[in-house]
Amino acid sequence: MTPYGASIAGTGSCVPERRLTNADLEKLVDTTDEWIVQRTGIRERRIAAPGESSSTLAIVAAQRALESAKVKAADIDMIIVATVTPDMPTPSNACLLQHALGCRRGIAAMDLNAACSGFVYALVTGSAFIKTGTARTVLVVGAETLSRITDYTDRSTCILFGDGAGAAILTRSADTGIGVQHFELGSDGSGAMLLHVPAGGSRAPATADTVGGKMHTLRMSGREVFKFAVAQMSESIQRAMNACNLTPDQIKLVIPHQSNARIIDSATAKIGLTSDRTFINIDKYGNTSAASVAIALDEAIRAGRCGRGDWIVIIGIGGGLTWATATVKL
Ligand code: COA
Repeated sequence: MTPYGASIAGTGSCVPERRLTNADLEKLVDTTDEWIVQRTGIRERRIAAPGESSSTLAIVAAQRALESAKVKAADIDMIIVATVTPDMPTPSNACLLQHALGCRRGIAAMDLNAACSGFVYALVTGSAFIKTGTARTVLVVGAETLSRITDYTDRSTCILFGDGAGAAILTRSADTGIGVQHFELGSDGSGAMLLHVPAGGSRAPATADTVGGKMHTLRMSGREVFKFAVAQMSESIQRAMNACNLTPDQIKLVIPHQSNARIIDSATAKIGLTSDRTFINIDKYGNTSAASVAIALDEAIRAGRCGRGDWIVIIGIGGGLTWATATVKL
């Protein structure tokens, strides 16, 4: 029994203005709007402007989350930013946020990389600090500018990815029955190369050759990742429901990582979840990795699809390979 609950007190999100539509992509690579919509469910994605970065999107998302939670930046005592596209390898985006938001000097701030599972990993980690009494108010963010590591000559990947950020403010509650009630964080490094960026890290530092070969962009074995994601998503959601003794009709909403509408549809159909209990916004944003569940959570709450007292399941699946599921009482 933990002494506290960690309530999701508010959420926010921010996406760049610029839209990259399927029609735009038809001009860049050999693809069609019909193929992309049928195979992925994506119609457009947002692309960061030259002056924007993961941190600028994260700052706005965090400010909106603070506003909706009615919490001041000065009250935050921990920041966790999930991202695979930080502004720079160092400092962390979390430190950039600490300063930009006007948080107190000395609070804990760190980035976390669990690819598309990142926001759920961050939310579970932040909740753990609150539940054990170590922190009172935690800002968790998922923020990406995947357009900066996407090869726009590769039709198998460039149709999928987009930019954006989402944030949540977690606050201490005396009610232990609120917030994350069960979670599963997982990994399988044997699949590491199924989704990776070959160069730009310590294994293959950036050189003229690596940049010329576009080795700082995402490479993906789509079919393998697809199979893994469908199986993992349905099994994880089922385990999440079992752990809290919930039937599909007791779940107000499942908020899955927006990787492919077909992945979400097959995984949720397998466990008898109807489409009105699943949140999908992939048509507007594509796959925004760590930002995906964060943006979806914010949009679902603002649209009234879920609210205080409801059971939701959030689930991220992605590179690493990683997965993360949390059963949450809002
Ligand atoms: N437009 C038109 N044709 C395309 C295309 C595109 N953008 N991309 C690939 N194709 C072609 C392939 O070349 C292939 O042609 P072939 O049969 O002549 O070889 C054909 O379409 C089928 O390719 P395949 O890779 O089997 O398609 P798919 O149905 O698996 O869809 C993905 C491809 C990428 C959409 C799908 O595999 C996917 O979503 N994977 C998971 C992605 C993911 O979740 N990634 C992030 C991890 S969270």
